[in-house]
Amino acid sequence: MQVEFEMGSGGSLAIPPTSEGPGGAVVKPFLRWAGGKSWLLREIDRFLPAEFQDYYEPFLGGAAVFLYLKQTGKIRGRVVLSDINEELVDCYTQVRDNVEDVIAHLRSCRNTRDFYYEMRARVPKTESERAARFIYLNRTSFNGVFRVNLNGVYNVPYGFKEYQELFDYENLREVARLLTGFPILCKDFQQSVDGVGAGDLVFLDPPYTVAHDNNGFIKYNQKLFAWHDQERLATAIRGIAEKGAHYVLTNAADASVERLFGKTGRAIELKRYSLIGGKKAKREIKGEYVFFNADRA
Ligand SMILES: C[S@@+](CC[C@H](N)C(=O)[O-])C[C@H]1O[C@@H](n2cnc3c(N)ncnc32)[C@H](O)[C@@H]1O
Repeated sequence: MQVEFEMGSGGSLAIPPTSEGPGGAVVKPFLRWAGGKSWLLREIDRFLPAEFQDYYEPFLGGAAVFLYLKQTGKIRGRVVLSDINEELVDCYTQVRDNVEDVIAHLRSCRNTRDFYYEMRARVPKTESERAARFIYLNRTSFNGVFRVNLNGVYNVPYGFKEYQELFDYENLREVARLLTGFPILCKDFQQSVDGVGAGDLVFLDPPYTVAHDNNGFIKYNQKLFAWHDQERLATAIRGIAEKGAHYVLTNAADASVERLFGKTGRAIELKRYSLIGGKKAKREIKGEYVFFNADRA
């Protein structure tokens, strides 16, 4: 199928920066996550089928898209959420099953340098404490990045980020409510989409890798998401389409990516403003591709 782009200043969509959810969505991701898709929510409806059965999100990260679709009533069937990051998956599981215990641990946290390093060094005794530690470090670390050393030890420095309120407990309770009854699996995307059937919707937001990266891969968590993984993803997406299911894939705006994914369905480039850097942040226009096979946009 022909690739359709809205590119250049004439045809592109310039989406202003915003943290507001559209469609009355009020429940927001509780984690800061690299590549978070809150910015896409204003546009995503045009890539979705009018109706779908079950919903799959195999690169869950901050869960921006799931939370939006669930609270706005677009998801009516079963949900399968997954990610390869074990700490992330365990954290969501605790929020879903044990939110009051997680909140109790969060209430004892302080946003100070000393408390941060004490928490960073601490070995949690329970699963709910481990989840709270993960949420705390994500919120107060430098840029919210999740980075571990070769021994799997989280090693991001303190962020000196000020908050009026460190945590939004009501939001966390609402996230728990939206997650209730759904599996959250620690799996590679390929296995996670095994059960996809006709009429289902799969939203895929992988780490962005392009073929001409210096060494052919970028480092992501402890795992590598290599160009080979993008190729595996292309095969998985062909499988999803052949089963008669719908997919929406976001990916880097790059010719190598267009060649790999552009044949199965349609593609659009979305342009948006993005803040790059810390205090001296610059506004930059960034493009990302959305590939999809619904007949709606
Ligand atoms: C760009 S982030 C997703 C962001 C998410 N859409 C959001 O709004 O926050 C990509 C996610 O893919 C996960 N990931 C990386 N490699 C994976 C793999 N092989 N299978 C499944 N998940 C993977 C990472 O742990 C990360 O959470």
